[in-house]
Amino acid sequence: MTQVGDLTVGGVLIECDAIQRRVEELAAEIDAAYPSLEQPLVLICVLKGSILFTADLARALTLPVELEFVACRSYGDATTSSGSVELVKDVSMTLQDRDVLMVEDIIDTGMTTAFLRKHLATHHPRSLRLVSLLDKRSRRVRDVEINFRGFDIPDRFVVGYGLDVAQRLRNLRDIHVVEVPESAG
Ligand code: IMP
Ligand code: MG
Repeated sequence: MTQVGDLTVGGVLIECDAIQRRVEELAAEIDAAYPSLEQPLVLICVLKGSILFTADLARALTLPVELEFVACRSYGDATTSSGSVELVKDVSMTLQDRDVLMVEDIIDTGMTTAFLRKHLATHHPRSLRLVSLLDKRSRRVRDVEINFRGFDIPDRFVVGYGLDVAQRLRNLRDIHVVEVPESAG
């Protein structure tokens, strides 16, 4: 058990071996979903949480890819959404007529993804799809289409494999649940 402030990092929800197997399966699905690429697929890593997933997914794909990065802010250091999303870092290339795949660690309320999808659509990409490693669908506020989904998870706060609590524990290999005390959550 690890303590971060008054949060307790609990048991393993998804083991690293299961994550790696699922990433390989997702990569195979994605490879098959783009039979007529004209240019490399643009993977948009949504910082910071998706960094490890993007790194593994990019290496599991056989398609040619380019990597781009965006950052949004929707959470403070707490475990509940602030309700508003802002762009902290935009893409640094034009996405016009490109096949674009947003790479998310987790879809929770869907606010971040809804915001980003709208923003990226203004670039007029050839296609715009979404892969998310985790789907916490019971908390959805905005309806978002997830084209490639890793795991459905229950309404629990999770850390590891890129996901943080107060910027910590992104480097855990497995995905763990966090016990949030009543007062904090
Ligand atoms: P949404 O906008 O509510 O869908 O949340 C998107 C962002 O919230 C994710 O990209 C994560 O950074 C963060 N988030 C949501 N749930 C969790 C969680 O269980 N653990 C860590 N971060 C989370
Ligand atoms: Mg986060």
